Amino acid sequence: MSHWEASNPPAPPAAASEAAPRALTPELTEDDLGLDRSLRPRKLADYIGQTRVKENLSVLIEAARQRHDVLDHLLFSGPPGLGKTTLSTVVANELGVAIKSTSGPAIERAGDLAAILTNLEQGDVLFIDEIHRLNRAIEEVLYPAMEDYVLDIVIGKGPAAQSLRLEIPHFTLIGATTRTGLLTGPLRDRFGISFRLDYYNEDELRDIVVRSATILDVQIDEAGAREIASRSRGTPRLANRLLKRVRDFAAVRANNEISHQVASDALHFFEVDELGLDSMDNKILELLVETFQGRAVGLSTLANALGEDAETLEDVYEPYLLQQGLLQRTPKGRVATERAFRHRGVPYNLFG
Ligand code: ADE
Repeated sequence: MSHWEASNPPAPPAAASEAAPRALTPELTEDDLGLDRSLRPRKLADYIGQTRVKENLSVLIEAARQRHDVLDHLLFSGPPGLGKTTLSTVVANELGVAIKSTSGPAIERAGDLAAILTNLEQGDVLFIDEIHRLNRAIEEVLYPAMEDYVLDIVIGKGPAAQSLRLEIPHFTLIGATTRTGLLTGPLRDRFGISFRLDYYNEDELRDIVVRSATILDVQIDEAGAREIASRSRGTPRLANRLLKRVRDFAAVRANNEISHQVASDALHFFEVDELGLDSMDNKILELLVETFQGRAVGLSTLANALGEDAETLEDVYEPYLLQQGLLQRTPKGRVATERAFRHRGVPYNLFG
């Protein structure tokens, strides 16, 4: 780990209320940092899912190798927990280069970014998580660095100010974002390739659970792995986190063996429902269905009622509810769907 990574750890997720129920947030927490690292695949061949992205990456990586050139800058977008960071590490491993990681909010001054860039070695991957949260003035330092591998430095002030061009090593920037819409046009245009990561299907998640169980040395059968997969909201990070909890439950209550019944009992115990929704998701649906009775609710009203900040609600919780057809974004606000009413066991009776 380089010195700036150590002194600039990724910023914590945008403010979230301590009191809010959030047992299963797909955001990366301190709790699973170590777990995540040990379970993360290191090579493309070990990476399960995202088939189209993997195929594209393997061609691009091979082409860069053959040309003895650095890989084009890459942008990974998609909801949290789908493997943007993991894939970036895999890309660096496949290229046989080092990866230096930081995040948009962690880079506070243009000088911080200049220091990072000048410390890179030829061919390195620079990973910037939450790149949409990079300060605009700092972003401008990136443009010439990405395009021409140079830094434009201004020395002095006023009429005596002098501009200096500094060459930096050729590198590959990998940006990750949950929100492509918040990226500025000039920054988006400078990425040669952009990949959107999708939610994983149940078979892929089952394979991930089985692979992780092997690494963790936990006994699990096919039905147990499938039960965890089906409640993981399409997200490997959640699949691995649920596996860890079920493992703990199995250690205390079930002889260390995870069957379908053990997984199901454990997930019930941890308040993860059959759609994989946790207490926070259910609180959102409860507000829309029961409190607001199916009426459209503005994002900030909903966020206030939940004690959560609007950005986290929009980036972390809503994508899966949208994908599952439980929630709709309308010009007037958020609306619960018929499926959400059914899920809450409330008759669908709009504006009843
Ligand atoms: N662990 C977390 N994500 C994974 C993935 N996509 N493939 C294999 N193991 C994983």
